Amino acid sequence: MSLFITLEGPDGSGKTRQAESLLEHLRSLDLDVVLTYEPGGTPIGDQIRNVLFNLDNTAMDPRTEFLLFSASRAQHVAEKIKPLLERGTIVLSDRYFDSSLAYQGYGHQLNLQTLWEVTSFATQGLIPDRTYLLDIPVEEGIQRRKQGGNWNRLDAFDLELHKRVRSGYLQLAEDDKSRWEVIDASRPFDPVQESLRHSIVEFIKSRGLLVEG
Ligand code: TYD
Repeated sequence: MSLFITLEGPDGSGKTRQAESLLEHLRSLDLDVVLTYEPGGTPIGDQIRNVLFNLDNTAMDPRTEFLLFSASRAQHVAEKIKPLLERGTIVLSDRYFDSSLAYQGYGHQLNLQTLWEVTSFATQGLIPDRTYLLDIPVEEGIQRRKQGGNWNRLDAFDLELHKRVRSGYLQLAEDDKSRWEVIDASRPFDPVQESLRHSIVEFIKSRGLLVEG
């Protein structure tokens, strides 16, 4: 029995810090958990990440971008996620294929069916057991990223794209309520972390991986 949980959200939703704090909490419950991330998560994936985020690569076509994210993901699944799940580890990933559907699909308006076909191939059909959407209004998210000084090539795209990404995420969550849960990430850090902890612990208990107590 293993569990694959992903965190998704628009830029500036605070996912990465939330994921780190969540990891600490789950480990304090004696759970075997590994936190990983995309794009990257493996040595090959991290090299692809450098190509994606290189500020010199502003001319990158969205198709190229999608294929690079997918290539990084294929390696991530094969080299890291699947083997961990097979040995019973709970895998928590900061972004996974829903990021591609939201950004390259809804954001850049590439054909969703095509993206889905390539994604199924890249991931060997591995779908998360549970996905949390850290939802935040676009302007707030961008503001947070600017304040944090975390500004890369992908952030430079226009507001409309980010708006499509956010509504794309909400659509994905709406389409599969059994997998997704939407968390209001416009709140301060602590209440967001509380919501995440509560929901994940309940989920893990429902799968019999954590005894009541
Ligand atoms: P990153 O620096 O990892 O920050 P964060 O996850 O905290 O936002 O940036 C990831 C960026 O890459 C983010 O703008 C979303 C984008 N992205 C895609 O467009 N498609 C994808 O498939 C993935 C995994 C990420």
